[in-house]
Amino acid sequence: MSTKFKKSEELLKIVETVIPLGSQTFSKSKVNYPFGVSPYFAKKAKGAYLWDVDDNKYVDYISSLLSVTLGYADEDVNKAVAAQLELGSIFSIASELEYEVGKAICEMVPCAEMVRFGKNGSDATAGAVRLARAVTKRDDVIVCGYHGWQDWYIGSTTRNLGVPKATSDLTHTFQYNDISSLEEQFKKLQGKVAAVVMEPTNVYPPAEGFLQQVKDLAHKNGALLIFDETITGFRFAKGGAQELYGVTPDLATFGKGLANGFPLSAIAGKREYMKLMEEVFFSFTFGGDTLSLAASKANLIKLNTQPILESIHNYGNQVIDQLVKKISDHQLDEFFEVKGHPAWSFLIFKEQKQLDGMELTTLMVQEMLDQGLIYLGTHNMNYCHREAEIKQLMNGYDVFFSKVNEALKKGNISSLLNCKPLVPLFKVR
Ligand SMILES: Cc1ncc(COP(=O)(O)O)c(C=O)c1O
Repeated sequence: MSTKFKKSEELLKIVETVIPLGSQTFSKSKVNYPFGVSPYFAKKAKGAYLWDVDDNKYVDYISSLLSVTLGYADEDVNKAVAAQLELGSIFSIASELEYEVGKAICEMVPCAEMVRFGKNGSDATAGAVRLARAVTKRDDVIVCGYHGWQDWYIGSTTRNLGVPKATSDLTHTFQYNDISSLEEQFKKLQGKVAAVVMEPTNVYPPAEGFLQQVKDLAHKNGALLIFDETITGFRFAKGGAQELYGVTPDLATFGKGLANGFPLSAIAGKREYMKLMEEVFFSFTFGGDTLSLAASKANLIKLNTQPILESIHNYGNQVIDQLVKKISDHQLDEFFEVKGHPAWSFLIFKEQKQLDGMELTTLMVQEMLDQGLIYLGTHNMNYCHREAEIKQLMNGYDVFFSKVNEALKKGNISSLLNCKPLVPLFKVR
């Protein structure tokens, strides 16, 4: 038995007696990291790197679920937070920082005329849906993509344990880049739909005219269009995917990219709708905490004054180009392809019958961790991923792809696994 993860594994046993799952987040837990070959607890992170409690060092391609854009523990963000800490992290009344960050968002994001803040992306999507329901006086919503943990959305997925059926029944799905699937839902739900909520893009870019067609169809049916830009916001472009693709929604939600890893999310949108937030109950004790807002202010200043996103996109393109070549060098085009935006690209497993998908995922995570890479099949680029980090990623791919070829020769993956295969969490993209 390897002792590489000894502390992590011992700690997991203890932690699980107090914390169910041993983590606050499914995708940071043993659900995604196979036992025996994985770390479970981080000690620190800086730039593009993370150290676990056993002092193993990794290049981190998760960027804390895409919440880190500048790199971990960015000096300017840290300085801003430290200065604010001296003044106080939270007050009994609002602070001016709320206006300052709100105003910055309005200047950057096309749909943003007014802004309200939450903490997690799920706060923002739940708040936006409540607002759309209040505006339209309708209950049903049609969704496409992932929108967080709250009942209104998660009830429509297979991870719906504990969600009342009456709530799940109000959320309907449509297929990305398939306008007829949305038309069908509107036909079925005539006069009932409050909003179409969608990630403007994730794995695939929008087909020509698709986002505009969605907007037109939503409006023709009296529904609002909400872009969930929790990931794309402040990452794909300064004004998010709505700026990149030239389609402005009625409302948009933001989260991860707002404050370089500090917990801040936002609902932004047209004044005529956002004004109703004075009546809609979207209100919580830690809304407006000043540390996250100070982090966000520093983050947005950097995004606006330095070519951060340009650099991320440049290095992200290098990852895509080099990976496409690696797949072909290893003669694995039948098994893998690369999709997505340079700031968030995906190694896609193609449909095939030779290898089991979950075993393949497990082998990938096992081998990449072994090569010093925290990685789950996506490249969540931050500003600190440069040539050296990309080189390490490509070395990891060389090892993983060689193992895949070995598995193909053997006719099985299981003999190459040093752990039990992972079990799927759920699939929404
Ligand atoms: C597109 C999208 N919307 C909403 C959410 C929910 O955000 P949070 O996990 O911060 O609640 C996520 C999180 O992954 C997301 O990717």
